[in-house]
Amino acid sequence: MDSAFPHRSRSLHDPHPEEPVTRPESAILLPMSDEMVIADGLSLGVVGAGVMGQTLIRGLLKSDLIPHSRIWAGDKNSSTCDTAAAELGLPVETDYQHRVPTADLILVCVKPADAPVVLATLRNSGLRRETLLISILAGVSTDMIEALLGTENPVVRAMPNTPAIVGEGMTVVCRGRYASKHDLERARHIFEGVGKCLPIDEVHFNAITALSGSGPAYQFLIMEALADAGVRVGLPRQLALTLVAQTALGAARMVLTTGRHPASLRDDVTTPAGCTIAGLLMLEDGRVRSVLARAVEEATKTAAHLGASPAKISEMAAGKRSGH
Ligand SMILES: NC(=O)c1ccc[n+]([C@@H]2O[C@H](COP(=O)([O-])OP(=O)(O)OC[C@H]3O[C@@H](n4cnc5c(N)ncnc54)[C@H](OP(=O)(O)O)[C@@H]3O)[C@@H](O)[C@H]2O)c1
Repeated sequence: MDSAFPHRSRSLHDPHPEEPVTRPESAILLPMSDEMVIADGLSLGVVGAGVMGQTLIRGLLKSDLIPHSRIWAGDKNSSTCDTAAAELGLPVETDYQHRVPTADLILVCVKPADAPVVLATLRNSGLRRETLLISILAGVSTDMIEALLGTENPVVRAMPNTPAIVGEGMTVVCRGRYASKHDLERARHIFEGVGKCLPIDEVHFNAITALSGSGPAYQFLIMEALADAGVRVGLPRQLALTLVAQTALGAARMVLTTGRHPASLRDDVTTPAGCTIAGLLMLEDGRVRSVLARAVEEATKTAAHLGASPAKISEMAAGKRSGH
C-alpha cells in the first residue's frame, strides 16, 4: 500500500480513542459565544503574516468574530510586518514574543520548515499552558507539532484554503492528544467565521490538503483555460472570465444546495445531440477525469512528504538556512 494513502477505507470521523462519541464529530455543533472562542481579556495571535496568515486575519475581521483590538500578528520579515500592519490596522511585529503570554489562541501560519523555530520561540516566550495552538501547516501532524513544542498545550491541526478571504473557505480540523472537544469547537468556530469547517480524522489530512487546500489553484487554472476558450470562440476576455467564474459559482452552489450527484445535474443540461454532449465528449477524449485524479494523487504524495517526521522538518529547516 502506498504510504501516502495509509487508511483509504477508514471512517472520516473516527473518534478519539479515549473519548468515544456516538455520532460523527461533524454533527456536533455546540452553541458558542465569542467569549468562548477567546477568553475575556486575552488575545488571538497569528504567527506568520504571509498569504494564509493575512487571509485568515482578513476573514476574521470581516466576520466580526473577534474585535480588532484583540488580534495581533508576528512575522520574521519586517517589510511584511509593515505592509500587513498598514493594511490590517493591527499590530504585526517581528518582536511579537512579548504578546505570547497574553494569547488565548495562536494560529501558526508559517511554512512547515519554519515550524521548529516558531514553536521553540513560542515555548520560550511565556506561552501559557492553556493557550490553544492551531496549526495550518501542510503535512505536519499534531504528533509532530506536540513533539516540536515540547509542552502539553492543546493543539488543533487545520487545513484551510484561500477562499477564506471572501468568507467561502473550506477548512477541516482535527485535535491533538491534549486538545479537548471544546478546543476543537473553538477552532471550528474560528474557521466557520470564514467559510465551512468540518472536523475530520487526521489520517485524511494529506488527501484533503491535496483536494481542498490546493484546490483553489486547480479551479483557477481551469477557469483561466475556459476563459481562454471563450476568447478563442470570439468573446472579449473580461466577459469570458465573468461568464466562467459565475458559472463555476452557480454550479458549485447547485451541488451544495440540492445534494444531487453532479452526474445527474449534468444530465439535466445534456440535450440529445446538443452542444453540451459534444463538449463533454471532447473533455472525455482529453481524459479530464484521470488527469484531475492524477493531479490530486500527486499532490497527496507531496503533502505526505512535506513533514514526514520531526527529523525531516529539521532537515528542511537546515536546507532552508543553507539556501537550498
Ligand atoms: N497558501 C495556501 O493556499 C495554503 C493553504 C492551506 C495551508 N497552507 C499552509 O499555510 C502555511 C503558510 O503558507 P503561506 O502560503 O501563507 O506562506 P507564506 O506566504 O510564505 O507565509 C509564511 C510567513 O511566515 C513568515 N515566517 C517564517 N519564519 C518565521 C518565524 N520564525 N517567525 C515568524 N514568521 C515567520 C514568513 O516570512 P519569510 O517569507 O521571510 O520566510 C512568511 O511571511 C504553510 O505551512 C502552508 O502549508 C497554505
